[in-house]
Amino acid sequence: MGFQFDLFDGKQNDILGAGTYEEFKRLLEGSRCALCALHASRTHIVVDRGNPKSKILMIGEGPGENEDLQGRAFVGRSGRLMDRLVAEELGMDTNRDFLIANVIKCRPPQNRTPEMQEAQACLPFLRKQVELMRPQVILLLGATALKHLVPEKKNFSMEKEAGRFFSVSQYAGVQWMVLYHPAYLLYDPRKEPAFRQHLQSLKKLLEKVTERA
Ligand code: URA
Repeated sequence: MGFQFDLFDGKQNDILGAGTYEEFKRLLEGSRCALCALHASRTHIVVDRGNPKSKILMIGEGPGENEDLQGRAFVGRSGRLMDRLVAEELGMDTNRDFLIANVIKCRPPQNRTPEMQEAQACLPFLRKQVELMRPQVILLLGATALKHLVPEKKNFSMEKEAGRFFSVSQYAGVQWMVLYHPAYLLYDPRKEPAFRQHLQSLKKLLEKVTERA
């Protein structure tokens, strides 16, 4: 086991040293990352879906069953719902206008919430994605993304956070926003009108961002 970890150490340095997004993705997908226990049950390392040249990064929680099988983020029911709401409210295509990634890149058993040590092991890869993509807007989908990306926020409630914009000092010039996770909308469809309103606020922000660009 130790042997496998040692082998991966060098590879991890290569992945985190990648000079382009394409190189990063190729190296990570082709690696046998074993930084946490989730490697044992995964089919694919799920790096993303969408366009790394876009301006908007969406961050979810972690791959589910469909994502694990296909190796692409948000391709199951919640992803399809998100795609439809983004198309209806923003007139945008998530594959062209967004990059979609997750806090963790391997599926947890029974889709349970990622454990702290799994997220900690995986977050350097997401930070590298942010560095290489250089998004202008980062959308955090749900409590898991908010908890791990903004650890200073303690004891928050999604009711209060969803729809809010904020900035993070380490990421100058990036506008952050919290949204409900689409799986939550499937669980409680009464939240959909609020989610649509949040997308309308995002639309206004995007108009300003593109005016500036
Ligand atoms: N839920 C997530 O948070 N991410 C996915 O990729 C799929 C479902």
